[in-house]
Amino acid sequence: MTQIYSRLVATGSALPERIVTNADLEKIVDTSDEWIRTRTGIRQRHIAADGETTGDLSFRAAQNALEAAGVKASELDLIVLGTTTPDLIFPSTACLLQHRLGANGCAAFDVNAACSGFVYAMGVADKFIRSGQSKKVLVVGAETLTRMVDWSERETCVLFGDGAGAVVLEASSEPGIYATCLHADGGYKHLLYNPVGVSVGFSDEPNHGVRIRMSGREVFKVAVKTLDALVGETLEAAGMQESDIDWLIPHQANLRIIEATAKRLNMSMDRVIVTVDKHANTSSGSVPLALDYAVRSGKVQRGQNLLLEAFGGGFTWASALLRY
Ligand code: COA
Repeated sequence: MTQIYSRLVATGSALPERIVTNADLEKIVDTSDEWIRTRTGIRQRHIAADGETTGDLSFRAAQNALEAAGVKASELDLIVLGTTTPDLIFPSTACLLQHRLGANGCAAFDVNAACSGFVYAMGVADKFIRSGQSKKVLVVGAETLTRMVDWSERETCVLFGDGAGAVVLEASSEPGIYATCLHADGGYKHLLYNPVGVSVGFSDEPNHGVRIRMSGREVFKVAVKTLDALVGETLEAAGMQESDIDWLIPHQANLRIIEATAKRLNMSMDRVIVTVDKHANTSSGSVPLALDYAVRSGKVQRGQNLLLEAFGGGFTWASALLRY
């Protein structure tokens, strides 16, 4: 039987119009452009307008990707959307997106794996395609994470932004995605989480208690160690070596974490896609935004091997190694 691969047909993305620079944040919390840049690599972030939702950003990114792919929404047989900031508790943002695109009838669901959401969604989509279940799949990573930010807490508010990215995957006899690796360890919940929810209940605090709680230094250490092991595992799963990778397209949380992963892969930073300076950490949006930038800027060329990786709350961590 011929092996079926998931081929990356095209990418798309969407960012809110409003840009908030480090200098803007200096006016609301006790921070400095210098501190933010040297600790994280972030210079600015896009922030969703009032009323602009994860679904709105998903819709724009999806339209962008479908147009680039030359695929009609009605041809899709699956939509998988990574997000931890859905428009509503239900229906899923994937269902809302499906309807807006006019792709009605195909399977559509969200994946919540925090910042690993898009790479998780890609792993799930790849399994659907490889099994023969789906032929054309839309995979989206979209967030309005700043809705969970406490703008008086300098430790977290400088780190995050909003945005979305999308890809169209298609069944093909040519690679394609070689390997995906998905992992989680809920034992790390206390290091990065949001303390409220439907079942636990909300609180009387501002924003109903919805806010990101993070132990930055601990997250940093585990992320570096975990991504180090993950890239090794992914190369092994794909039967490849470090030198086979043309581009590293990492989750954009912190430039220092990205540099550590590049070093582990013996890759110079000119083969690493970096957008954290412009987008900050957009959670599930980060990898597909970086991927779309890589494709549309002409950096990534057809036939090149891309290593995508992400790390997020849970903890979750995930990778995909593919030929573009
Ligand atoms: N501006 C200025 N000073 C700040 C600040 C800010 N925005 N945020 C924290 N500080 C201060 C702290 O209060 C601390 O002061 P102290 O030494 O007087 O106590 C000092 O800076 C150092 O804080 P620390 O947390 O140890 O800094 P750090 O070097 O670990 O950098 C992070 C902080 C958050 C940038 C870094 O730990 C990080 O990026 N962690 C990973 C976070 C992440 O990626 N999360 C998402 C994963 S998907």
